[in-house]
Amino acid sequence: MRSQLLPDQVTRVVERAVLAPSIHNSQPWRFHYDGDAIEVWADRSRRLAGVDPTGRQLAISVGGAAEYAALALRAEGYDVHCEVLPDPERPDLLAQLTPLRPHTVDAVTRALVHCMTRRTTYRAAFDPRPIPEHTVEKLRDAVHSAGCGTMIVSGEQRPGLVVLLERAEASERRDPRYREELNRWRSNAAHATEGIPDSALVSNASRVSRVPLRNFTTGDVAVVDTPAVDEPVLLLITTTADELGDWVAAGRAMARLLLHATAAGLQASPVTQSLDQDTDRARTGHELGVVGHPQLLLRLGYGTAVTPSTPRRPLRETLTFPATN
Ligand SMILES: Cc1cc2nc3c(=O)[nH]c(=O)nc-3n(C[C@H](O)[C@H](O)[C@H](O)COP(=O)(O)O)c2cc1C
Repeated sequence: MRSQLLPDQVTRVVERAVLAPSIHNSQPWRFHYDGDAIEVWADRSRRLAGVDPTGRQLAISVGGAAEYAALALRAEGYDVHCEVLPDPERPDLLAQLTPLRPHTVDAVTRALVHCMTRRTTYRAAFDPRPIPEHTVEKLRDAVHSAGCGTMIVSGEQRPGLVVLLERAEASERRDPRYREELNRWRSNAAHATEGIPDSALVSNASRVSRVPLRNFTTGDVAVVDTPAVDEPVLLLITTTADELGDWVAAGRAMARLLLHATAAGLQASPVTQSLDQDTDRARTGHELGVVGHPQLLLRLGYGTAVTPSTPRRPLRETLTFPATN
């Protein structure tokens, strides 16, 4: 049995969906309510050709927003049928969410939806306190429940990964298109609705964590001798195949993971430099011995600082309803 949604309900769902993370806060999505289902579309005009030549990270971002929308729709009191790539004739329609019979909202759904407003990408150093094993297992379960795999990068693999991240980023920074994008997506205007404000970045990014974070500056970075103190958990989301639907699945897995992490009092940031370009991604997969395809690497730990939120585009730019006459 399908249920019809009121415009206010659709608006509430999409207000939450757009809180999902996206590559450079590009928010490459569109939503349409067709009277039956909420459609989640890729907006390919917002693809970042330098950092994301194939649109893989765009699809992960949209997958994350689709998962947020599905959870928010559940919190409106419905069972939800989520179909990924429902129509081969419309390949940019990445997911379709159909509200089914009404149901009672459970406490976990409520808590995860609440976490959408609390989660931000955390780029400062973590507290050295380790994450308990059972919490890491819960996060892995959240990823597995979305049909993706996980790998914890540990021991001997960690220094190797740091080298891969540094090399990949150094090579990207030689590409003028990559640098131009970084510049364009750093946004400090008072009324900015997209991009990353400096307040969300840390000034000496590569030095505060043992894992080199993406450097969002375009000039040379002054090296300050700040000791790296944290030892974050490094969790890699993987998929068995590497098609558009797998990228959307990785985005849904990322959303579940981040919301469960927030609920557990953790902070996280994607660290994707060595996954941006396909040759680096293949090398990373090979050197880490990944079974399948690496999609997203996340650094997780207990935060020591408050990270400000990033802006979002107004819904009038991203949500449409059927035309009325
Ligand atoms: C696919 C993907 C890749 C990302 N890669 C990075 C990254 O390499 N470094 C980084 O600092 N943030 C990365 N981010 C985080 C985005 O910059 C962040 O989600 C966006 O600026 C919105 O901010 P928020 O997450 O605080 O809401 C990535 C996000 C996504 C979805």
